[in-house]
Amino acid sequence: MDKKNKTLGEFIIENQSSFQYSSGELSKLINAIRLAAKVVNHEVNKAGLIDILGTAGDTNIQGEDQQKLDVLANEKFIQTLKNREIVCGIASEEEDDFISINSNDEQNQNKYIVLIDPLDGSSNIDVNVSVGTIFSVYRRVTPVGTPVTIEDFLQPGENQVAAGYIVYGTSTMLVYTTGDGVNGFTLNPAIGTFYLSHPNMQFPETGKIYSVNEGNYIHFPQGVKDYIKYCQQEEGDRPYTSRYIGSLVSDFHRNMIKGGIYMYPKSSIASDGKLRLLYECNPMAFLAEQANGKASDGRSRIMKLKPTELHQRVPFFCGSAKMVEKAEEFIAKALK
Ligand code: AHG
Ligand code: MN
Ligand code: MN
Repeated sequence: MDKKNKTLGEFIIENQSSFQYSSGELSKLINAIRLAAKVVNHEVNKAGLIDILGTAGDTNIQGEDQQKLDVLANEKFIQTLKNREIVCGIASEEEDDFISINSNDEQNQNKYIVLIDPLDGSSNIDVNVSVGTIFSVYRRVTPVGTPVTIEDFLQPGENQVAAGYIVYGTSTMLVYTTGDGVNGFTLNPAIGTFYLSHPNMQFPETGKIYSVNEGNYIHFPQGVKDYIKYCQQEEGDRPYTSRYIGSLVSDFHRNMIKGGIYMYPKSSIASDGKLRLLYECNPMAFLAEQANGKASDGRSRIMKLKPTELHQRVPFFCGSAKMVEKAEEFIAKALK
């Protein structure tokens, strides 16, 4: 078959056997995420129309339609995963605690738990700028057929069996890995089908883009300030270009294609930065490493960290390997 015509559905079936625990369950889970992505895509696309449609029609626009899009995305993802009876637990940025599914049902033999950031970059919703969804999948560590516990969710990133994101951009893409490289699929909205458009995605070894909220510069640690100055210096291929969308998914996606580094450092006003380890940094780190890039907290590999809390924050430096190494070098030097 012509590679360009391959759909996500076909790709999932073809690659099922290459996955180490190929019981078909993970394939079903990716399929459920594919469906949820389409549902959320539909909601995101009509975001700007809700008021217009609401006043034009007779329907009551109280309730669902008026909910914030991140709450709506959260509901759609959780509902889709629940309906398909495919996971035993879900944790989300929008939920204080994890959700146990069919926890008292001994028949529930589902092995996987999912962590999601249902709507990433929510400050961009109202201004028609790209947003995303991030997901991370683990095998539970407690026995199947028993209720999931916090232990199932607090696993180091290196235990992930799949991770990915959806970017609702000029086109909608689903990008994911099951530990065998990173592949990107673009949605044809006319027929609601994802096509393999970006096989085997790779971060260029180095790049010319740095992405950081420089408004926080004054609060950054000295090493990060030094690295930013390095990016701006005129020497060799520098100064680099600054690009910051404020949606991790979109900034990551651009940097993976063009080469670059994304940074959300700790600061004097946020001691662990802002991003969440479990459903933002770990999945992005897994994707980065699978695409020849790197992800670090400034000192160590993100995926090595042992989480202690569901909504834990962590400083994040992620992107082209050489650039992440350079940032780590500056951070280490400033601490000496
Ligand atoms: P979320 O919308 O899920 O809360 O995540 C927003 C995150 C991330 O996507 C983005 O890169 C970062 O917050 C932007 O933060 P600042 O506005 O502080 O730069
Ligand atoms: Mn987010
Ligand atoms: Mn979010």
